Amino acid sequence: MLRGKHIVLGVTGGIAAYKACYLLRELQREGAEVRVIMTEAATKFVTPLTFSALSGKNVYTDLWTTNQATDSNIGTQHIEVANWADALLIAPASANTIAKLQAGLSDNLLTIVTLATKRPVILAPTMDADMYLNPVMQQNLTKLRERGYFVIPAAEGEHASGLEGPGRLPEIDVIIRFVDGVLEKAHLDLKKKKILVTAGPTHEAIDPVRFIGNRSSGKMGFALATAAAQRGAEVTLIAGPVSLETPRHVRRIDVESAEEMARAVIDESSRVDAVIMAAAVADFTPEKPVSSKIKKTKDSSRLSLYLKHTTDILAALGKKKRRPLLVGFALETENGRAHAETKLTSKNLDLIVLNSLRDEGAGFGSDTNVVTLIHQNGNVEKLKKMAKYDVAHAILDRVKNLL
Ligand code: CTP
Repeated sequence: MLRGKHIVLGVTGGIAAYKACYLLRELQREGAEVRVIMTEAATKFVTPLTFSALSGKNVYTDLWTTNQATDSNIGTQHIEVANWADALLIAPASANTIAKLQAGLSDNLLTIVTLATKRPVILAPTMDADMYLNPVMQQNLTKLRERGYFVIPAAEGEHASGLEGPGRLPEIDVIIRFVDGVLEKAHLDLKKKKILVTAGPTHEAIDPVRFIGNRSSGKMGFALATAAAQRGAEVTLIAGPVSLETPRHVRRIDVESAEEMARAVIDESSRVDAVIMAAAVADFTPEKPVSSKIKKTKDSSRLSLYLKHTTDILAALGKKKRRPLLVGFALETENGRAHAETKLTSKNLDLIVLNSLRDEGAGFGSDTNVVTLIHQNGNVEKLKKMAKYDVAHAILDRVKNLL
């Protein structure tokens, strides 16, 4: 997979910086072309000359000098490197660089190139165990992962400081296999395709303070948006109220209620090739939301709420003469297959993704999912339990074939 691939290897400060020399050699042995960017701190541990001798190329160390690896000048070299890369691998990635990337800082060539590139960014966090386990570091990594950065789990073991625990740079072959896996998925086969994804729950207002909601976390829809963008699609993500970071290179529209989601989806749908409705849209909404807070009174031991149907977004799209490819989700507790098939036909969908709340590792909040894909032509594929991100790729493989 790495033959002919352009890899930018970012090296940051830390004892493990010397291991990046072996990593560079191995990437080249696998057939990759590698350019190295070092942060100033990295140069305190290993000299640029070492990387330069190993790679046969000049090494980028400084934002302000010209003529480093190419003849490009200060104003454009970061863009040139960012566009050259098929992937950017930062190994070792220090706590400081990770924090900067999380915050969007761009104070050296490596952070600037990371911000500028549209290609996959892979981080190998490497630091002392106590730093790695610090909640701030874990939060930074979670946010970066949600945005679509790839994070290689740190290895466990003894550190130079004598501490034991996670935070070590993984073995070189583990890193190489990880990069291989990332490049295999991010092959731009959805380039020029416009994909609309919905995600999360909707909140239906009872009064200005209270709402009816559901337990959807939005993770499946966000994984779909992330994966589609990595494959080169132009992605619009319409999200209900969730606490997830916006994936890189995704246009996000936030909505709250089922009606807002219906308006946004119907408005956007004429401009896209496919709509994937992963959102758990409320089927009912309070008939008359009250404009001021409902107070409890002495004689009110009960409160009745009248609910009305919301617009069925997929069904509305399914009725259109010229409609995009439609993918629906069905979350069922029993008779899943029969219910999903009914939805597929009644809403006029091309594909429906069935997940059963009864399957272990499926459903709301979980990072994994167990799904069955049911096609309009009657094909049924039961997939094994996978990370939601891998389920997203499996769904997109089908979408690509159907488009
Ligand atoms: N959906 C939609 N608009 C709604 C409700 C649901 O577009 N108002 C979409 C969901 O995003 C999902 C699919 O329809 O992709 C199936 O949703 P679900 O709520 O399970 O199906 P319903 O047809 O509403 O049936 P039920 O709730 O009775 O299972």
